[in-house]
Amino acid sequence: MTQSEPGAPEDGAPGARPAPEATILVVDDEPELCRALSKLLSRNGYEVLTAGNGEEALQALRRQEVHLVLSDLQMPRMGGLDLLKAAQIISPATEFVIITGHGTIETAVDAMKSGAYDFIEKPFSTSTTLKVVRKALEKQNLLTENLQLRRRLEEIQGTSDIIGRSEPMRRVVATAQQAAPSSATILITGESGTGKEVFATAIHRWSERARRSMITVSCAALPETLLEAELFGYEKGAFTGAVARRKGRFELADRSTLFLDEVGEMSPATQVKLLRVLQEGTIERLGGGESVSVDVRIIAATNTDLPALVEAGRFREDLFYRLNVINVELPPLRRRGDDVILLADFFLARYNAKNGKHLTGFTPEAQDVLGRYAWPGNVRELENAVERAVVLSRQSQVDVDALPPHVVAGRARKEQIVIPVGTTLRDAEMELIQATLESAGGDKETAARILGIAARTIYRRLQ
Ligand SMILES: Nc1ncnc2c1ncn2[C@@H]1O[C@H](COP(=O)(O)OP(=O)(O)OP(=O)(O)O)[C@@H](O)[C@H]1O
Ligand SMILES: [Mg+2]
Repeated sequence: MTQSEPGAPEDGAPGARPAPEATILVVDDEPELCRALSKLLSRNGYEVLTAGNGEEALQALRRQEVHLVLSDLQMPRMGGLDLLKAAQIISPATEFVIITGHGTIETAVDAMKSGAYDFIEKPFSTSTTLKVVRKALEKQNLLTENLQLRRRLEEIQGTSDIIGRSEPMRRVVATAQQAAPSSATILITGESGTGKEVFATAIHRWSERARRSMITVSCAALPETLLEAELFGYEKGAFTGAVARRKGRFELADRSTLFLDEVGEMSPATQVKLLRVLQEGTIERLGGGESVSVDVRIIAATNTDLPALVEAGRFREDLFYRLNVINVELPPLRRRGDDVILLADFFLARYNAKNGKHLTGFTPEAQDVLGRYAWPGNVRELENAVERAVVLSRQSQVDVDALPPHVVAGRARKEQIVIPVGTTLRDAEMELIQATLESAGGDKETAARILGIAARTIYRRLQ
């Protein structure tokens, strides 16, 4: 059965070529076939794993890096095609070759349309098998190399680049760039997912302090005492567990930038301590009397309405003014016009590279959907939607069917109403109730919850 072809490696000729460093997963419900293939491949220098069914194969893919899957097409429970689809999500860079029996060529062609590299027909010759395997691995290799190159390029160009050409973005970038070189404290505000961390990173990079790394602390992630220990450090014996002296983030951020994320979550006691540091430029470690002077530029961020917290007595007014020396207010994505498409293209390139895909863009219909949706989760929501679309798309462009259904349905769309001065309070209230009802899909209970009133109030008003 062995037909030797010119240039093809001899079956079992050890040392004929350098051992390829590749892991191949053989999936077949016939143990006999698994064994035969496994033997052939390992004799040719490949690392071989075997799985007797689809589930086992997926487990192997989750556990370790596999360069190529050789899978039988017809297996009980999970067939080769279903395995292929699941593998593309779990391990997108893995190449796939289907093994088919007689009379299943059409399904094999389907498999190739779904992204399999090639198929081998049973009974197969060793030379054909080895040739297909080698070619598939070559492609896999090119693909990963490409991926690595692109990642490297992204590193060099800086991933913290800010995408956006809309007027509100231009204005806010200008403010940030103007403020960056000074040491003035900056408060970045904006809805969740608008890019507050992206801006903090950029401001740091645009400043003299960029030679050192920016230090980040999320004020929401830690309970009060731990947060204080993180921020100010501690002396040995300051509390149980403080077995040695430790520097806090303030000290680590000396001559650099300290990014205080979600600053609205800080407890009143910690707010007092932070205020003191801002006023005096010195910190005291927990459990130590000595003050250490630090040269730290603070950038704080919040997605909560700090003035409202001040009003409610939950955030110190004096601290608010200390932090809010310069305010960088990030516009929500729905006010950024064409930035939506610009960002979508940017994320498409990123996730193409990540998944070894080559989607060329969005269909006009998909662009229309992206442009009309209100993006309550802002850039993060858009990024997630594009990542999902890249994984799911089977055509050359992202079409509407690959976008999340709620985005296509355009819920969250009507999120603003304009009430002209001169409107009576009664009419304004009516207008708001109706708009809220509409965005809640007519669900009065939900609308009432959003409006902070009882559902029966809505019923009464609507009568
Ligand atoms: N202008 C932008 N250009 C490119 N990517 C962006 C931009 N703005 C945001 N992103 C991306 O969107 C995601 C969310 O951004 P980021 O984490 O900075 O938001 P955030 O405002 O801090 O959100 P949260 O309030 O939830 O913490 C990140 O993956 C980020 O890379
Ligand atoms: Mg953030």
